Amino acid sequence: MKKFLLHPITVTIVTVVFIAALPYMLPKKPIPKWSDEELRSKALSLNMLPTPKSYEELLKVVNNPQNPLSREKIALGKRLYFDTRLSRDKSISCASCHILEQGGDDNRPTAIGYRGRANPHHLNSPTVLNAALAKYQFWDGRAKDVEEQAAGPVQAPFEMNMTPKEVEERLNSDSSLRAEFKKVFGKDRVEFSDVQKAIGAYERTLLTRGAYDEFLDGNNSAISESAKRGMTLFISKGCKGCHTGMSVGGQLIQKFPVRFYWQDYLGVLFNPKVSIKDNPYPFKNLGEFYGRNNEQYFRVPILRNITKTAPYFHNGAVKDIKEAVRIMSKYQLGDEFNKEQIADVVEFLKTLEGKIVKY
Ligand code: HEC
Ligand code: HEC
Repeated sequence: MKKFLLHPITVTIVTVVFIAALPYMLPKKPIPKWSDEELRSKALSLNMLPTPKSYEELLKVVNNPQNPLSREKIALGKRLYFDTRLSRDKSISCASCHILEQGGDDNRPTAIGYRGRANPHHLNSPTVLNAALAKYQFWDGRAKDVEEQAAGPVQAPFEMNMTPKEVEERLNSDSSLRAEFKKVFGKDRVEFSDVQKAIGAYERTLLTRGAYDEFLDGNNSAISESAKRGMTLFISKGCKGCHTGMSVGGQLIQKFPVRFYWQDYLGVLFNPKVSIKDNPYPFKNLGEFYGRNNEQYFRVPILRNITKTAPYFHNGAVKDIKEAVRIMSKYQLGDEFNKEQIADVVEFLKTLEGKIVKY
């Protein structure tokens, strides 16, 4: 018996089982109970900041030295944002896929552009609202700001399908528009880079404010008790480590999923045709899109207005916000939330809904 117990194989098995079980045996860190003031000061100290209320404050937050804001430039950008002449068959504008009244996206799993063409990578349209606050644009973060970003959709064959030269020709033939460009940029002809700048300037004003901002400004009754519990979880469990900044996201490129569970891979064992990257379900491969450098690194999405922009994830695979939160807690934090916790976090996410501020 003694010989059996001390046998190297037995010892190895027991050690491995013990180490594997360790995380389940350790007591969980208790969830803090903060007063409203503590919660607010915690949030503010973590850079969870309210959206500016005035044009002067806005300039301090989103101005781009390479594209200084002005009222005329913003107005011109707004006109272009809704202008279908930026698409080949004059049927699509930026607003077709980024509907401002509907959370700044199109509520489709994947974007549909020129002549009904779907995004070849089955990518979901992210919101334009508060996108100007993000450090990276696009699901893989490949553009640095909204000005650079704007060149993409105009030229993508499955979005607006134009070339910069064609856009210039079309817009130059409109003398009233040309006059507006001249007022803003001081040139006789419309240049594509100025189209990008004007649209970018307008997007810099598309920031939203809601109950969350009022709470951060000092109004304790702006959000419910459930939302406060959700906000506490969001901070103390670590969602805020990735979804950070004024836009509550958009500032980092992160791995997704961070955690792996062997149970998810049983499907792969039994079906050799499924690659490991295609499983498990939440990361279902709908369009061969694996983020930055194909390594499953994605731009952390902006969570402001998230409850208005279903479906979720880069591939639009998840319809229900509760399921999106569950997936995040399990795969990004390794701490699967229970039903009540998920409900509280969703209440918190609802407070991130807001109205576009009129600057
Ligand atoms: C056919 C639908 C469609 C049209 C038209 C369209 N977009 Fe998009 N937009 C998308 C999709 C899909 C993405 C994500 C693509 C990616 O990550 O590769 C996106 C990404 C963006 C982003 C990045 C947001 C973020 O947080 O990363 C911004 C900003 C944006 N679009 C603005 C615009 C502007 C401005 C126009 C008009 C010039 C425009 N879009 C036209 C579908 C569209
Ligand atoms: C390690 C970084 C990280 C942590 C921690 C994290 N997230 Fe995320 N989150 C991401 C990334 C990256 C994505 C985009 C994944 C994708 O679409 O492929 C994402 C996506 C989301 C989405 C869907 C967004 C959309 O536009 O479709 C929601 C909602 C969300 N996270 C909420 C949360 C909540 C709530 C928590 C805490 C329980 C959390 N996240 C923790 C990185 C993180």
